[in-house]
Amino acid sequence: MAQRVSPTPSSCFLTLLFLSSCILSAIALSKENQNSFASILNPNKLGLKNEKLTHFRFYWHDIVSGRKPSSVIVVPSVSNYTSTTSFGMVAMIDDPLTEGPELSSKLIGKAQGFYGSASQQEVGLIMAMNFAFIEGKYNGSTITVLGRNTVFSKVREMPVIGGSGLFRFARGYVQVRTHQFTPKTGDAIVEYNAYVLHY
Ligand SMILES: *[C@@H]1O[C@H](CO)[C@@H](O)[C@H](O)[C@H]1NC(C)=O
Ligand SMILES: *[C@@H]1O[C@H](CO)[C@@H](O)[C@H](O)[C@H]1NC(C)=O
Repeated sequence: MAQRVSPTPSSCFLTLLFLSSCILSAIALSKENQNSFASILNPNKLGLKNEKLTHFRFYWHDIVSGRKPSSVIVVPSVSNYTSTTSFGMVAMIDDPLTEGPELSSKLIGKAQGFYGSASQQEVGLIMAMNFAFIEGKYNGSTITVLGRNTVFSKVREMPVIGGSGLFRFARGYVQVRTHQFTPKTGDAIVEYNAYVLHY
């Protein structure tokens, strides 16, 4: 499979050229490290040793009705789409996240952010939100989700694109299923299963 090729003067010259350019760029890099705003760190320095996978399951409550909604439309939909896909609508949310499907079950955090209706053909949202946890060791840490949510699909998947605190360098995805939707009020309870790689 592999053939030995005896070095020819020209390949020696190329090797030399390659080595010297390596040395030059190494010198340039170390100079850069000394003088510039960027430096290369060993990940151990930040305690980034063992990446682990955590599964979270919780319920997301989108309350649009009543006197204290957690989801408020801040931009109305384009008039042509009001009765169909609500294209153009943007809602800001501070939605409770609970351990069980009932709103009265333990509050573990809030989903803060917004979603917008981004499809003219179906009800398809772009969602951008931070899960701000308040429970146990996760208190104060956040997970950021940005993705597409076609709300009438049985299972929707959205990427976890980062996080803070215990979720620095987080990546992963969430799978969401509607647990309950009340057409009369527009309120929704959605089951979230999040699979998150973090340190
Ligand atoms: C709304 O629909 C009307 C009639 O089909 C069309 O003329 C108009 O351009 C549409 N407006 C928008 C913003 O899509
Ligand atoms: C979460 O952290 C905040 C701020 O440090 C603190 O006030 C609060 O009591 C903590 N909550 C829980 C449930 O531990």
